[in-house]
Amino acid sequence: MSEFTLAHLSDLHLGPLPAGAVRRNFALKRTIGAFNWRLNRHRVHSTAVASAIAADIVAAAPDHVALTGDIVNVAAHDEFTAAALWLKSFGDPSWISFVPGNHDTYVRMDWQHGLSHLADYMLGDMKVALAQSGPQIATPFPYVRLRRNVALIGVSTAVPQPLHRAAGLLGATQLESLSFLLSDLRERGYARIVMIHHPPLPGLAKPRKALIDAPQLREVLEAQGAELVLHGHNHEHMLNTLPSRFGAVHVLGVPSASLIESQHHPVAAWNHYRIQRQGGKWLTEVSVRSFDPVSRQVRHSTQFALSS
Ligand SMILES: [Fe+2]
Ligand SMILES: [Fe+2]
Repeated sequence: MSEFTLAHLSDLHLGPLPAGAVRRNFALKRTIGAFNWRLNRHRVHSTAVASAIAADIVAAAPDHVALTGDIVNVAAHDEFTAAALWLKSFGDPSWISFVPGNHDTYVRMDWQHGLSHLADYMLGDMKVALAQSGPQIATPFPYVRLRRNVALIGVSTAVPQPLHRAAGLLGATQLESLSFLLSDLRERGYARIVMIHHPPLPGLAKPRKALIDAPQLREVLEAQGAELVLHGHNHEHMLNTLPSRFGAVHVLGVPSASLIESQHHPVAAWNHYRIQRQGGKWLTEVSVRSFDPVSRQVRHSTQFALSS
C-alpha cells in the first residue's frame, strides 16, 4: 500500500505583538508576557523563519500537516486574527490539523475573540461520542480526521494557568474518549497519530510546565497503543518510545518553527514522516529539516526509521 506523508511543526509563536493589543485586552499575566516578548522573545522568534518553514512544507507537498500548538504568544485578540491570516496563506484547513498550546490560552478569554479564528483547523470529520468543549475552546476535543489509512487524533491540553506556570491538562473526559478512539481505530486498521501540545509522558517537562495528567495518559497509551504521538512545547528535538500492549508508541517533539537563534534551544525545524504498513507493522521514516541561519534555507538534517 502507498505511503502516507505527514509534516509536523509546532510552537510558531507568531509575532510581532500587534500594537496596543495588550492595553485593549488587559490581564496581568498577558501584560507580563508582552513585556517579556518585547524584552527577549521577539529577538529569537522570527515570523520570516516560520514562513520559510511553511514554504519548505508546501514545497514537500505532504498529504497532511500537524501543527501542535503555541501559534500565538499572549492570546491577545489581534494575535488570533493575524495567526488565522498566516495559516490561511499556509494552507487549507482540511490539510492542516491544529491543537492548541498553553500560549493559545495564555489568559482566560472567550472563544469568539480567541481560538474561534482557528476553528476550521480543529474540526474532526467523524462523530466522537464523548468530547469536551468549554467557553474558551468551544469546538469538541478530541477530534478525529481520517485520511486514507491514517487517523489523526487531536487532543487539547490548553488551559489558562497562573503566573509563571505553563502546565497542561487533558481531563477525565478526553482521556476516556481517547482510550475508546485508540481501541476502535486500531480495530478498524488505522495508523493512529495523536497530536498534543504538551509532552505526553511523565518526566519530559519541568513540573511547572508539564502535563498534569501525564501518568493517566501513559496508562491509556500503554493499554491501547498508538503509532505516533506528536507534541511541541519543549522547543526541542525529542524522541521517546513507550512499550504498549499493541507495539511501540513513538513520541516525537519538534523545536519551535520560528526560532532563529538561541543558546538554549535548537533552531527552527520540522519533521517529515513517511508512514506505511509493511509485514503487519507500521513503519515510519522520519526526515528532520532544519533552518540554516547562514544560508537562510531549510535543509535536510537527519533521518531515521521507526517501527511499531
Ligand atoms: Fe512554545
Ligand atoms: Fe507551550
